[in-house]
Amino acid sequence: MLVNYDDLTKTVAALTEGETDEIALMATLACELHHADDRFDWTGFYRVTEPELLKIGPYQGGHGCLVIPFARGVCGAAARLNAVQLVDDVEAFPGHIACSSATRSEIVLPVRNGAGAVIGVLDIDSNQPAAFTQEDATRLAALLDAVFGRL
Ligand code: SME
Repeated sequence: MLVNYDDLTKTVAALTEGETDEIALMATLACELHHADDRFDWTGFYRVTEPELLKIGPYQGGHGCLVIPFARGVCGAAARLNAVQLVDDVEAFPGHIACSSATRSEIVLPVRNGAGAVIGVLDIDSNQPAAFTQEDATRLAALLDAVFGRL
C-alpha cells in the first residue's frame, strides 16, 4: 500500500482543525502517516528543545534514540541545514544513527512554524532501500506546512 497524499492531506486537515498544540499535531500526523504506507517502518518527530539539540517527540514504530545533537545523523543534518534529507542508503550516509539495523533508507524534513523557524524534524525510516522519492519530499513538505504553519 502506497500513501494517497490527497486523501491523507484531507484527513489530517479534518482531524487537526483548530488545534494548535504542537505535540497533539505531531502525534496525530505520526499516526496517520505511519499507517498509510507500507514503506514507513518508523515514523516520527524530533523536537528542537534547546539550541542545536533534538529530542524525541511523538512516533510510531520501535523505540528511537532520545537525543540527537544537530551535528549528528540524518535528523541533525535536516535541522542544521534546514533542508530535506533524502537518503537512499543509510550505510552510505556519514554519521547515520542506526536505531534499527533493519533500516535501509530514510527521509527527514525540517518542521517549520508560521514564522519559518525550525521547531523539529519529521523522520520516516524504511526497511526497503531507496524507498523515498522527490514526490514524497514535495508532498510531505506541503503537509507539514499546512499543519505547522499555523503555529
Ligand atoms: N535516522 C535517524 C535516527 C533514527 S531514529 O532515532 C529513529 C538519523 O540518523 O538521524
